[in-house]
Amino acid sequence: MKKVQITETVLRDANQSLMATRLPYADFEEILPEMDKAGYYSVECWGGATFDSCLRYLGEDPWERLRNIRRLMPNTKLQMLLRGQNLLGYKHYHDDVVEKFVELSIKNGIDILRIFDALNDFRNIKTALEATKKYGGKNTVASGCISYTQSPVHTVEKYVEMCKELKTMGFDTICLKDMAGTMSPYEAEHLIKGIKDAVGDMPLILHTHCTTGMAYMTVTKAIESGIDVIDCATSCFSNGTSQPATETMFYALQQYGIKTGLNEDVINKVNDFFKPVKQKYVDSGRINAKSMATDAQALVYKVPGGMLSNMIANLTDMKAMDKFEAALAEIPAVRKDLGYPPLVTPLSQMVGNQAVTNVLLGQRYKQVSKEVKNYFKGEYGIAPAPVSKELETQILGEGGKPVDCRIEDAKRTGEDFKKAKEALGDLARSEEDIMSYICYPDQTMKFLTDRKAKEENICKYSIVEA
Ligand code: CO
Repeated sequence: MKKVQITETVLRDANQSLMATRLPYADFEEILPEMDKAGYYSVECWGGATFDSCLRYLGEDPWERLRNIRRLMPNTKLQMLLRGQNLLGYKHYHDDVVEKFVELSIKNGIDILRIFDALNDFRNIKTALEATKKYGGKNTVASGCISYTQSPVHTVEKYVEMCKELKTMGFDTICLKDMAGTMSPYEAEHLIKGIKDAVGDMPLILHTHCTTGMAYMTVTKAIESGIDVIDCATSCFSNGTSQPATETMFYALQQYGIKTGLNEDVINKVNDFFKPVKQKYVDSGRINAKSMATDAQALVYKVPGGMLSNMIANLTDMKAMDKFEAALAEIPAVRKDLGYPPLVTPLSQMVGNQAVTNVLLGQRYKQVSKEVKNYFKGEYGIAPAPVSKELETQILGEGGKPVDCRIEDAKRTGEDFKKAKEALGDLARSEEDIMSYICYPDQTMKFLTDRKAKEENICKYSIVEA
């Protein structure tokens, strides 16, 4: 019997997409032992924005959250999303920091590391892969992830080449990450058949979003075309900008005679548990109608929904919404000049903002943003296709070449750890505290200072009581 497995995303992407990652641990702790019996391929529960959100908004230690999930879900593979050399943010970290982060993630409970780079510059995921192989056990999975986008240079052949490269690099599985939810059923069919023909022995995973309304059709075509794993969210946290619903896919696949390995009772109990949790955030306004709706505009303009709303917000601020159509029409030109980067954060904002600037000033590249300059300097990695020579000369000067920032930056000096230890002093009690500080210095300093103050208060209180 054919088998397609399901990754449950409610603890990470579904909650990140629908409610800006503000789901506190206390809201889902109780259901974890039940979720452990569901039979998911994995539970995505960490990485992405969860780390930042824990420290910045929720007053939680992200490492402690992970250890708690591990303790209550001993039988389920726990999965994280890692932005390669950027770890969980947007700047390149040194190799020793990347290695330590991967080591600690595995030590604290992660089984599957889904590793990607915004530009699909695979040099940026190599260190994280090697660290996963070094520190992981026999059940640890390194999943090589491709940022999916549409452009004249992003052909099926190009994606097949990328998959072959991921296989050669030594990844265990491959994930197609359609962050904008713009992959159509037709594209899924051709892409997945092409990839399966080339690297058929490697498990293939599809991650998409319901944003544009394509997802159920796309996932169904992907299943017909040989996909092994799909990402879904428990139904009350599904749809809108989130993933397709776990139970819906379970029932649909059952009729096709495709096994998911899911326990029907358990997945329904999981959804029953999350219903009032969701309602609480609908009532508070944290989950708004917009994130729950289908928005097909992204298909019309070939840009992700988040990028559109960012452009609308900028143009509204500048009282220039009459330039919206012109700015949209400018995007393909800017994107071409930048060598067709995938439209994912931060590149989507860079392309969108530059298009708006070009239109408002009535001239291309009269002003170039700092980010676009840094992109041409090579700070983000290699562009998927050649960039505009003219713009390159304008930014780097005659004969100027981008520097290979990743290689420059990748030295192992131990400096980051030394500086973090000095800055934290006795606030740091573990390697995890130090790592949090390296990733998010301000938020971690505040979190650890609050933690200490809270404990001192408790001590004072207990002395009085005694
Ligand atoms: Co996603």
